[in-house]
Amino acid sequence: DWTPDQFIEATVAELQQKIGNDKVVLGLSGGVDSSVAAMLIHQAIGKNLYCIFVDNGLLRKDEFESVLDSYKHMGLNVKGVDAKDRFYAALAGISDPELKRKAIGRVFIEVFDDEAHQVEDVKWLAQGTIYPDVIESISVKGPSATIKSHHNVGGLPDFMKLKVVEPLNTLFKDEVRLVGRTLKIDENIIGRHPFPGPGLAIRILGDITAEKVQVLQQVDHIFISNLKKTGLYDEVWQAGAILTPVQSVGVMGDERTYENVVALRAVTSVDGMTADWCRLPYEFLADVSNEIINKVKGVNRVVYDISSKPPATIEWE
Ligand code: XMP
Repeated sequence: DWTPDQFIEATVAELQQKIGNDKVVLGLSGGVDSSVAAMLIHQAIGKNLYCIFVDNGLLRKDEFESVLDSYKHMGLNVKGVDAKDRFYAALAGISDPELKRKAIGRVFIEVFDDEAHQVEDVKWLAQGTIYPDVIESISVKGPSATIKSHHNVGGLPDFMKLKVVEPLNTLFKDEVRLVGRTLKIDENIIGRHPFPGPGLAIRILGDITAEKVQVLQQVDHIFISNLKKTGLYDEVWQAGAILTPVQSVGVMGDERTYENVVALRAVTSVDGMTADWCRLPYEFLADVSNEIINKVKGVNRVVYDISSKPPATIEWE
């Protein structure tokens, strides 16, 4: 029978054999798969694994700093790259969801290629591809798919000519988590909800600005930290907030306000293919709504998304 310990032992030996003294680059996303892939390869080759963690300016509040910190504590050789402005510049004025995804994918490739070039004589590109990604290779989702759809734009970036190593490509998600826990990776990383590669860009309807990102980060942070505080986080498969361009009238003291509506979304699911909205307790929703409206400037109304997938998707874009 499959056990995480056996898998780790066999895979580390195999990686050492395959990679030898070569250098490897890997893009960390903060998610489970890339983190577990990195720790496995780190066990095999140590400092010859060069991890790159890009801040695209579309992550959750404080996420870049806190996750980078966890990676450093795990002993990984990781470089954090602040590329926020490059992403915001590429996204300026774009409202179409697919064009946002394309812009983000393109800039990610540029930034990653720049960084990979700084690793002298690198031979391998490591990826956290898991088995469902392999069988679903025609998927239009996920960072690897984003990379694929850019294959033919002006030739391959150099890092894509590297030999590829994908140590998790026979595993399902729950097995990846078991391996991660056995490798003592922070529960904060292993137990985290899925988060889309394009990040908050597809939760801001309309065009993206740094200011809108900041508003949504505050809203999202209130929602997620309350889920954690009340123990509901682990019962939810994925949760997040959406900043809509709809403005509505409100009152604040004697003043009339005209500000944005945000939507909260929380779903249960097994694999994201189908999903149902979570029956979160009314009291919980009341507290989160009050906190958001009291604390976040520019938001005066909160709604809860009660649509299941299908037909509604989990993300709004
Ligand atoms: P939907 O919205 O299609 O989402 O019901 C299903 C799952 O996929 C995630 N998602 C993405 N992940 N790049 C990603 O890496 C994307 O462009 C993307 N779009 C959606 C979504 O967060 C959910 O977990």
